[in-house]
Amino acid sequence: MKNITNICCIGAGYVGGPTMSVIAQKNPHIKVTCVDLNEARINAWNDDNLDNLPIYEPGLAEVVKEARGRNLFFSTEVDEAIDKADMIFISVNTPTKTYGEGKGKAADLKYIELCARQIARVAKDDKIIVEKSTLPVKTAEALKSILHNTGNGVSYQILSNPEFLAEGTAIQDLQNADRVLIGGDDTEEGREAMQQLVNIYASWLPQERILTTNVWSSELSKLVANAFLAQRVSSINAISELCEVTGADVSEVSRSIGMDSRIGSKFLKASVGFGGSCFQKDILNLVYIASSLGLQEVADYWEQVILMNDYQKHRFARKIVKTLYNTVADKKIAFLGWAFKKDTNDTRESAAIYVAEKLLQEQANISIYDPKVKKAQIITDLENLGTLDPEAIHKRITVVSNPYEAMKEAHAVAILTEWDEFAAYYWQKVYENMMKPAFVFDGRGILDLKNLTKIGFQLFSLGKSNTAVK
Ligand code: UDX
Ligand code: UDX
Ligand code: ADP
Repeated sequence: MKNITNICCIGAGYVGGPTMSVIAQKNPHIKVTCVDLNEARINAWNDDNLDNLPIYEPGLAEVVKEARGRNLFFSTEVDEAIDKADMIFISVNTPTKTYGEGKGKAADLKYIELCARQIARVAKDDKIIVEKSTLPVKTAEALKSILHNTGNGVSYQILSNPEFLAEGTAIQDLQNADRVLIGGDDTEEGREAMQQLVNIYASWLPQERILTTNVWSSELSKLVANAFLAQRVSSINAISELCEVTGADVSEVSRSIGMDSRIGSKFLKASVGFGGSCFQKDILNLVYIASSLGLQEVADYWEQVILMNDYQKHRFARKIVKTLYNTVADKKIAFLGWAFKKDTNDTRESAAIYVAEKLLQEQANISIYDPKVKKAQIITDLENLGTLDPEAIHKRITVVSNPYEAMKEAHAVAILTEWDEFAAYYWQKVYENMMKPAFVFDGRGILDLKNLTKIGFQLFSLGKSNTAVK
C-alpha cells in the first residue's frame, strides 16, 4: 500500500480551509494543496497579513502561519493539484436547490458533479476521492458512476468523511474531534483506502475516535447529527415561548433538564433561531429524501424542526413591532450582531437576515453593528432574499463600525448574535443616548436582565417571563 504524500482539496471555504490547515499542521510529511476557482479567495488565503484570511475562525491564523509554505498551499491551479494528488477531498458548496425538481429542499449537486468531471478528465493514476461536503445519501454512488464512466481507466475509491466542525470553534473541533467518521466500500480496496485516511487522522487523534462504516451510514449520519442538534434548539425554542407566558425562565429549565445525563447540557440555549449553512439545508435534505421514498410521516416529523425555527424568527420580529406601539416605520432600530453565531464572520441563514426582512417590510430603519461582518455582505444577504426592493435596502440599512453609534438615538436595540462583547458594553451610556422608552430585545439571552432594568431599559429577553416587555 503506497502511503499518501500528496493531498488536494477542491474548495477553500469554511470547511476545506480550516480542515486542510489542520491536516497539514499535523502531517508535515504530506503536501496539502487547497484549490478554489475563486481567485480572490485564494489570494486572501495567501495574504502575508493573516488578518486578511477569507474566513474568521479563532486559532486559524496561527495554524496557517505554521504550515503555509511548508506543506500547506493555496492555489487556483485545480488541474495541476488534481493530477499530483493521491487523495482528493471535495469540499465545495452544496446549497439547497433554487430551481427545478426538489427546489427549496434538495441539495444542489452541480458543483460536486463539476468536480467529478474535472477529476475524471485530469487524473492519470489511481486516486482516493473523499467527500467532505455534506451530501445527500447515495451521492457517492453518483460520483462513482461519473468517475468510472468518463475516466481514463483510472481506478477510484470513494470515501465519505463528513465534517462535524462547528464554525467559531472549527480549529478546536478539528484538533480535538469527538469522532471522525469514515465511510467506504467493504472490499479489500475500500478497506485499504479507509485505512489511508484513518492514518492521516491518527497522527493526532486516538484510534478509538476514528470510526469506519459503510458509505451510506456515513453520509446519513452527517444529516442526522445536524437534524438532532437543530431539533434540540427548536425544542427549547418552543419551550421559550411557553416560559414567557407562564412564569418559568427558559435558562432555568435548560439547566435543570440538561443535568439529566440522558439529555445532556449542550445545545439547549434558546435563541432567535438557529442559522448557519448546515442545519436548515441538512434537515431539508432529510425531509426531501424521506418524502421521495414515500415516508411522509418521517418527512413531516423533521420538517417541524424547520417550521419551529421560522416561527421563532418571525415571533421575535413581531414582538419588536408590537412593543413599539405597532409601528416601526421610520424608527431607528439597532442590530447588535449579524453573523449566525458568535466568533464567525459567516452569515449564511443567519436569523438576523429574516428579522431584518420583516422589519424592513414594516419600513424600519436599521443600523447594524457586527464585529466581523462587512457591509457588503449584509447588503448581499438582504438582496439575495429577493423579497425586498434594493433601493429600500440601501435607503434603510446603515452598517457602522462602532456599536455606540448604532444605538445612538435608536428606539430599540435587538441582540441577534451572542458576541461576548455585547454584554460588556457601557449600558448606562447607551441608555442615556437612546430614545425613550429605551427598548432592548435580547434574542440570545446574554444581557443582565436585572442590571439593565435597573438602568431604566424596557427589556425583553427570550424565554423569560419576568421581563419588562410582555
Ligand atoms: C420516565 C423518565 O425516564 C423518568 O425520568 C421519569 O421519572 C418517569 O418517566 P420511565 O417511563 O420509567 O421513566 O422509563 P424510560 O426509561 O424513560 O423509558 C420510557 C420509554 O421509552 C420506555 O418504553 C422505553 O422502552 C422507551 N425508550 C427509552 C426507548 O424506546 N428507547 C430509548 O433509547 C430509551
Ligand atoms: C453545525 C454543527 O454543529 C456541526 O457539527 C456541523 O459540522 C455543521 O453544522 P455550525 O452551523 O457551524 O455547525 O454551528 P452550530 O454551533 O451548530 O450552531 C448552529 C446554529 O444554532 C447557530 O445559529 C447557533 O446560534 C444556534 N444555536 C446553537 C442555538 O440557537 N442554541 C444552541 O443551544 C446552540
Ligand atoms: P463550505 O461551508 O461548504 O466550505 P464555502 O462556500 O465556504 O462552503 O466553500 C466552498 C468553496 O468551493 C467556494 O470557495 C467555491 O468557490 C469553491 N468551489 C465550488 N466549486 C468548485 C470547483 N469546481 N472547483 C474549485 N472550487 C470550487
